[in-house]
Amino acid sequence: MDDKELIRLAMDARSRSYSPYSEYRVGAALVCSDGTVFTGANIENASYPATVCAERVAVGNAISSGRSDIKAIAIAGGKSSETSALSDYATPCGICRQVLREFTDPRVFRVLVARSVDDYKEFTLDELLPESFGPDHLN
Ligand code: THU
Repeated sequence: MDDKELIRLAMDARSRSYSPYSEYRVGAALVCSDGTVFTGANIENASYPATVCAERVAVGNAISSGRSDIKAIAIAGGKSSETSALSDYATPCGICRQVLREFTDPRVFRVLVARSVDDYKEFTLDELLPESFGPDHLN
């Protein structure tokens, strides 16, 4: 599973976004150590706070399938009118950063934010969520 394929899967997941309120469609694709991929799209709700982000849907799919050995996530987000070439690098929100932190080593977990398969930025989770609070603090 290379980065471009993971981004393509995030773009594909984005097509299944349910986002009639913001019209901001997001797709995410998480890859496990053996190459297994779990995807998610944002799911909005008429009661706005009940909305869930694409990244957390993908994490929920992985964890509820018994997989927590996640290595990287690709994210693609932009307004509904935009299709393949997005104008945004849709960096994950703070809550999603914290949820990813729960299951990863932030120094090595990779976050790819893509406008297209050929145009993306790469961060470690530690870069996006420095000095984070995680499960180790509770040991
Ligand atoms: N959204 C995500 O799916 N992921 C993020 O990290 C940021 C925001 C969604 C939530 C909502 O449906 C829309 O984007 C606008 O906030």
